[in-house]
Amino acid sequence: MRWVLACIGATVFLSACLPASARPKSEHAARRASAAVDVIPAPAMVESRDGVFAIRAGTRISIPRDPRAAGSARYFAELLQQTRGTRLEIVERSGATAPEHSIVFRFDPQAVGSSPEGYAIEVSSRQIVVSAADARGLLYGAVTLWQLCTSEAAHSDLIDVRAVKISDSPRFGWRGLMLDSARHYQSPEFIMRFIDWMALHKLNVLHWHLTDDQGWRLEIKKYPRLTEVGAWRVPAGAAAAADIDPGTGRPRLYGGFYSQDTVRGIVAHAAERNVTIVPEIDMPGHASAALVAYPELGVTEHPPAAVPADWGVYSNLYNVEEGTFNFLQDVLDEVMALFPGKYLHVGGDEAVKDQWKTSPGVQARMRQLGLADEQALQGYFIGRIEKYLEAHGRRLIGWDEILEGGIAQDATVMSWRGIDGAVTAAGAGHDAVLSPWPTLYFDNRQGTGPTEPPGRGRVVALQEVYGFEPMPAGIAANQRQHILGLQANVWTEHIRTEERVGYMTFPRAAAVAEVGWTAPERRDWDSFVRRLPHEFARYRGLGLSYSADVFQPAADPRQLGAFERRPSQELKTCTDKLVLSLEDDAPIGGKRAIFLIDIMNPCWIFQSADLSQASALQVAVGQVPFNFQIGKDREAIKLAAPHTPAGELEVRLDNCEGQPIAVLPLAPAVANAAVTTLPAVRIPRTRGRHDLCFRFTQRTLDPLWALDWVQLVE
Ligand code: ACM
Repeated sequence: MRWVLACIGATVFLSACLPASARPKSEHAARRASAAVDVIPAPAMVESRDGVFAIRAGTRISIPRDPRAAGSARYFAELLQQTRGTRLEIVERSGATAPEHSIVFRFDPQAVGSSPEGYAIEVSSRQIVVSAADARGLLYGAVTLWQLCTSEAAHSDLIDVRAVKISDSPRFGWRGLMLDSARHYQSPEFIMRFIDWMALHKLNVLHWHLTDDQGWRLEIKKYPRLTEVGAWRVPAGAAAAADIDPGTGRPRLYGGFYSQDTVRGIVAHAAERNVTIVPEIDMPGHASAALVAYPELGVTEHPPAAVPADWGVYSNLYNVEEGTFNFLQDVLDEVMALFPGKYLHVGGDEAVKDQWKTSPGVQARMRQLGLADEQALQGYFIGRIEKYLEAHGRRLIGWDEILEGGIAQDATVMSWRGIDGAVTAAGAGHDAVLSPWPTLYFDNRQGTGPTEPPGRGRVVALQEVYGFEPMPAGIAANQRQHILGLQANVWTEHIRTEERVGYMTFPRAAAVAEVGWTAPERRDWDSFVRRLPHEFARYRGLGLSYSADVFQPAADPRQLGAFERRPSQELKTCTDKLVLSLEDDAPIGGKRAIFLIDIMNPCWIFQSADLSQASALQVAVGQVPFNFQIGKDREAIKLAAPHTPAGELEVRLDNCEGQPIAVLPLAPAVANAAVTTLPAVRIPRTRGRHDLCFRFTQRTLDPLWALDWVQLVE
C-alpha cells in the first residue's frame, strides 16, 4: 500500500558443516541433531549419514563441459571465498569420472522430482555431489551447499561438511520480492546485490516497481522526457527547498533512472541467479511523473507541473484517448524488449476516478464505448492493455483492483488488500499471487526500538511473516493450482537509503523464502529461529544489512527508569489512525531524527510516568513536512487552536482533556527545520504514576510538529 489508514485496511542446532575445532564431541550428539541442517529455506528431505567431507585448500570443484554448470560452480566458489576465505579451483571433466575427493556438480534428469528448481546433494567422506536436472536446480544446490559450509561458529578455512543426503524442491513457483525504485532510487549496483541476496534465499521473482507519481525510473527511447523530466523531483519540506543547487540556482533535485543498457545488464545478471524480473509500469493511476513529462496524456487542463514529492494517492490519471494507448503500447514495446519474462505488471491500483468522473472528454468516450461507469472504464483500459500484451506472447499481472470493472481474460491478480482478491481470482479461473497488506508489506516496522529505521508505524515482526499461509483456507481443491505463490513488497516512501532497504527486507525475506519453498508440514518457527544466527553470520559475511530485532528482548517502556529520556517510539500515540515512523527532512546531510507520529492526530501519551520526584519536564520537538495525499481524510484532522503565533505543546495529566499542567511555547523551535530542545518547564508536584498527554496546537498542517523525546527532570 501505499496509503490506507491503519484501520482498514541449545539443543544446539548443529551445523552440517563445522570447522574442525567445533565438531560435536560425540557421534551420538551429531546424530541427534542431524535431522536438521542450517539451511534456509528448510529442504524437503534431509538424511544424515556417517562421516565428514573435509574441504581443504586443494579440494577441486569438478563440472561437466556445460556453461550452465560453470555458472553455479563459480557462484559457489565465490561465495565460499567471500564468506570463508577458502579458494577452490574449478576443473572441467571430460568423461563421467570426477577426480578423487572433489565437489562434483552434475546434470541428472532423474535427480529429483519434476521441478526444474529441484536438486539433490550427497555428501560422503569421499565426495560431494550436487545434481539437478536443470541449471536452476543446480544453482540452488550450490546455494544449499554453501549454507552447509557456513555457520556462525565457522572462522577457520578448514571446512568439514557432515555427511548428509538432501533432496529438495519448492512448494510454490512464485517466491518474490517487490522493490519500489520509484519513491526512492537505488543504484544499479545495489539492484544487482539485491538479486544476489534473493538467490541466496531461493527467491525467484523480482517485481520491480519502476514508475509512480514520484518518479519514472526506466529509460524509454521514444519518450525521453519520461526520465529527463519524470525522474527528478524536489524532496518535500523546508530543508530541501533551501538546499540550492549552485548549478541551477534552484532547489537540488533528487532522482535517477536506469538506462536501457543498465537494465540489460541487470536482467542478464538476474537470469544467472534464476531471478525473473517482472517490471511494473503503473496505470491508469500513480502516473503523475509521466503526466509531468507528457501533459497531453492527462485528463485535466492543468496537469501537475513538477514531479510531486507527496506520498499517498493522487487523483492524476491517464486519459483514455487513442494517443494515450499508443503511448502506453510504445512504452510496453520497449519494456518487453528489455525484460524477457512472461509477466508484465501494469499496476491498476488506487486509481481514484475523480478526474474521469468530471472530465467531459472521458465521459463522452465512456458513453461511446457503451461503458456503464468509471470502474467499467478501468476494466476496458486494463483489458485493452492485456490484449496487447497477449498479442506479444506476454501475460498481464496487476494489483487486485483489476478485478473491479471486469477482469481481463487471462490476467493474473496480485492480491494486496488481504487475500480475498486471490480467492475471487482463483474462483474465476485466474492465477493469483498473495501479497497482502500488512503482513507482506515490508515498509512496516519490524520492531519498536528507537533505532528502528523509518517506516510505517505498524509492527510486522518476523514471526508474523513466518506464520503467513499463502494458500487461502477456503479455496476449492481444484482451484489451488491457481495460487502461484507469494511475494513481499518493499515500498520505499520511508526507506530512503539502500542500507535501510536491506534492513527492512532481511531477515523477513528469509521467512518469505521458507513459506514459499518449504512444505507446510516442515515449517517450524522454533527451528527457523535456531537456524537464524547462522543466516545472520552469512549476512555479515556478505555485507548485507539486516534486522536482528527478533533477538532483542521486547522493551516495556513502563520498565524504564523514571528519569530516562523517552523517544517517541517509547511513547504511545493517542490514536492509531495513520501511524508512521517518519524521518525528519533536516538536516539535508547527516543524521536525522525519526518520529513516531499519528499524522491524523499528532498526540502522544507518556504512560505511567512516575511523577513523585519530578519537578520539571524537558522536551525536544521537530517539524516534518505534511506531504501526504490522503484525499478527504485530511478534513478529519482536528488541530487544537494555538494561543500564540508559533503555537504550543500542551501537557495534560491522566488524559488529553482538561487543563494543561504545562505549556511549552514553540517559538524557539520555529526557525529550526531539525530538532530543537525546548527550555525545561516546571510541572506541579504530583504523587505517584500518571499518564501524561502531549499535544501540539497549530493552525496549519504543514509543517507538522512532532515530538522527538520527553524527559522528566528531578
Ligand atoms: C498497493 O499497495 N497500492 C498495491
